[in-house]
Amino acid sequence: MNWLSDNVNQLALIGAAAIVLISIFVVGKYIKQIKDDRATGELAEDSWDGIREFKNPIPTGWALAFLGTMIWGIWYWLVGYPLNAFSQIGQYNDEVKAYNAHFEAKWANPDKDTLMGMGEGVYLVQCAPCHGIAGDGIDGKAAGFDRWGTAKGIEDTIKNGSQGLGYPMGDMPAGLVSDPDAISAVANYVASGLQGDAQGAEIYAANCASCHGEDGTGLGGQSPDLTTYGKTAFVKDVLKRGKYGAIGIMPPFNDGRLTDIQKEAVATYILSLGEK
Ligand code: HEC
Ligand code: HEC
Repeated sequence: MNWLSDNVNQLALIGAAAIVLISIFVVGKYIKQIKDDRATGELAEDSWDGIREFKNPIPTGWALAFLGTMIWGIWYWLVGYPLNAFSQIGQYNDEVKAYNAHFEAKWANPDKDTLMGMGEGVYLVQCAPCHGIAGDGIDGKAAGFDRWGTAKGIEDTIKNGSQGLGYPMGDMPAGLVSDPDAISAVANYVASGLQGDAQGAEIYAANCASCHGEDGTGLGGQSPDLTTYGKTAFVKDVLKRGKYGAIGIMPPFNDGRLTDIQKEAVATYILSLGEK
């Protein structure tokens, strides 16, 4: 009986016994009251299936408490609500913000190796579950970075169309160009920053410029800016928007989960996976 010698345990036991006794007493008192009490006072006229109401006034204490609650409620709603008071969530957010600021400052000017290392870390945690550890897109479940971001990715886009980035223009239809040579010519033209041979430029002007603009910048936000395709800016745009593909949805990463530098890093990393 070692535990009984502990005075905290003793106190707890005494408290428990007291609660049981008081409960039995209170319950007993009310059961007796239900049996014995008879209400008194003047009865109202109305009768509902033989049940009638007394015309007793509301007890003063009850009425005051009722009014008081209403006044307090209005005060709390308009003035008292602790908008600027301490909250655990607020504290957590502040700490995360301070930490991120510290992180951003520490990695303000990362070199390429640092970016790649950080990018791989972010990638393996945040992106690999859908895009695959090797970045191959797990058999088409998500974009495969061995192709996406390169001329081959543009060829895929022309053949299959593209959807779900949420641009005002909506989706890009599949098969706008069908001749394989023409597809590869225009893909190379776009991949090299809208520079290159006359054939690519001609196909671009005829089939793409109407939506992406003659200079490829997307008509002021109506469609993606193709001059950034294959660059980190395009990836960051995707991270901001999210995308739905044939198989599933990529959520946007714009909730502060990744800092700007982490986005730059993961973009650098995935673009390094493509066969250029
Ligand atoms: C009818 C308008 C339209 C035409 C024509 C068009 N596009 Fe697009 N394109 C879009 C839209 C809209 C998107 C964004 C679609 C999305 O939400 O994924 C897009 C996206 C793209 C992308 C980005 C794909 C990705 O992986 O995010 C590339 C690359 C592209 N277009 C290339 C081209 C090329 C090359 C041509 C000409 C052969 C072309 N587009 C013609 C409207 C068009
Ligand atoms: C929940 C699954 C999921 C996660 C997590 C995910 N993605 Fe995606 N991602 C997708 C899907 C699905 C697509 C669309 C594939 C398609 O077009 O068919 C996609 C497409 C992309 C594209 C191509 C967009 C385009 O315009 O075609 C890029 C770039 C990309 N993801 C980057 C990332 C990066 C970087 C991360 C990690 C920070 C990430 N994704 C995390 C599912 C995911």
